[in-house]
Amino acid sequence: MGSIKIAPSVLSADMANLKGELDKIAGADYVHFDVMDGHFTGNLTFGVDILKAVKRSTDVPVDAHLMVSNPDETVDWYADAGADMITVHYEASTHLHRTLTHLQQRGVKAGVVLNPATPVCVLESIIDVVDMVLLMSVNPGFGGQSFIPGTIAKLQELKAMCERHGVSPLIEVDGGISSKNIAEVVKAGANVLVAGSAVFKSEDPAAEVALLQKLGNE
Ligand code: DX5
Ligand code: ZN
Repeated sequence: MGSIKIAPSVLSADMANLKGELDKIAGADYVHFDVMDGHFTGNLTFGVDILKAVKRSTDVPVDAHLMVSNPDETVDWYADAGADMITVHYEASTHLHRTLTHLQQRGVKAGVVLNPATPVCVLESIIDVVDMVLLMSVNPGFGGQSFIPGTIAKLQELKAMCERHGVSPLIEVDGGISSKNIAEVVKAGANVLVAGSAVFKSEDPAAEVALLQKLGNE
């Protein structure tokens, strides 16, 4: 297994067949679990009960991406439900340092997410603390959107910031990732790639995960 990780997003899975869909991605590195609250995003997805169902159905670690307006108050719900890694949006967290260190004290990996319009420089005072930075390469809300090209420059800036600080958090990119652009995104500094529609809308999700892992690690 290479150092580039693939995280299929169950947002694009057939929720009527959750266990079957998770079986197809048993070879993935993470399950990406998109929580949307209908407030931070103009879409509503799933919460803790479905997260528990995911945890019962797979051994693949769960990466919970909280697109919610009140992460500081609700992160424990997802930690209690078994999330292995939790990311919260910079734009929604008033007490980001407290929330992230709280998760880490609980033994959960903790990360911060930036929307496409949020500059990387806001991470300067938190980069030494985080286990992961997630750069959104689409505006959060829906699967199947196109990759925003400006993400590449943000990745390069983030990589330079990490080098300056002597830290190496996981760097995840979410939105519009496919076999067509994964190499470019990895080259710019990403090492965890979310893929929703590219995996679950393909004819053979297991083969697609393997292909993305191969292309990412070339
Ligand atoms: C978008 C979600 C993504 C989404 C990605 O708000 O955070 O995780 O599932 O889907 P694709 O890979 O189809 O762009
Ligand atoms: Zn996501």
